[in-house]
Amino acid sequence: MMRRINIFSKVIAALVLVLPMGAFAAGSGYPLDKMDVNVADKPSLQRGAKLYMNYCYGCHATSFQRYERVADDLGIPHDLMMENLMPAGGKIGDLMKTGMEPKESKAWFGATPPDLTLVARVRGTDWLYTYLRTFYLDPKRPWGVNNKVFPDVGMPHVLLELQGAQVDTCGGEVAQRDTLTGEKLCGLEPDPSIKGAMTPEEYDQAMYDLVNFLAYSAEPMQLERQRIGWYVLLFLIIFLIPAYLLKREYWKDVH
Ligand code: HEC
Repeated sequence: MMRRINIFSKVIAALVLVLPMGAFAAGSGYPLDKMDVNVADKPSLQRGAKLYMNYCYGCHATSFQRYERVADDLGIPHDLMMENLMPAGGKIGDLMKTGMEPKESKAWFGATPPDLTLVARVRGTDWLYTYLRTFYLDPKRPWGVNNKVFPDVGMPHVLLELQGAQVDTCGGEVAQRDTLTGEKLCGLEPDPSIKGAMTPEEYDQAMYDLVNFLAYSAEPMQLERQRIGWYVLLFLIIFLIPAYLLKREYWKDVH
């Protein structure tokens, strides 16, 4: 009994140590906003794919993925995919590589836009969701913007026309809250001089869709795995019946 309590308390201690780490961005210390990925939500994935192809794909490749696979998994007809979401002249069976030369982009942005096929697994979806919503005006940076979870990022705020501009009222410090009331004392606020086409709620939803798509892209098998998982469980439940009957039969002789 003692021993069991001992192990139990160790497990709890390990969890207490590890859990809070997930809530903060590696490096910047900015608290991450949570999002629940749902790769079964096809309309969300379709909207995410559209945003991705229109706003990200010009710079970032997803070169371990093919257009055809995305179209089939997300239920997008091939002709719609080719007309609206693919670069002109591309073939549906092609890998999703863009034409940006790493050398050129390095000169323009100071860093090559990395391939995003697996970024949801590398950075985590909470990190991405927070990253895409925490660009703010910073005249000291080459593109006039900085980012809360990726300080001094080389990427411009390509979604400025959707989100509008934000200013940091903390003067570069991590957002602060009143310790008693939890009320936000300073942080990112909309800048009225550059308005976006979306409301904050619409923009959050759009970023949810976009990150959902990147989560799918990092592991297209997820959908299949869930389906297979149900069959496996069903098999185990049905198998339980003959296994139990057999056990009863064998043990009859032993007793
Ligand atoms: C104009 C080119 C450009 C566009 C368009 C663009 N990015 Fe980027 N992105 C970059 C560059 C350059 C970097 C590298 C930044 C650095 O290392 O400082 C980057 C970095 C990133 C990173 C960080 C990757 C990592 O793990 O280090 C993510 C995530 C990202 N971009 C997502 C997006 C998404 C999502 C979109 C579409 C909404 C997008 N980007 C559109 C240029 C671009």
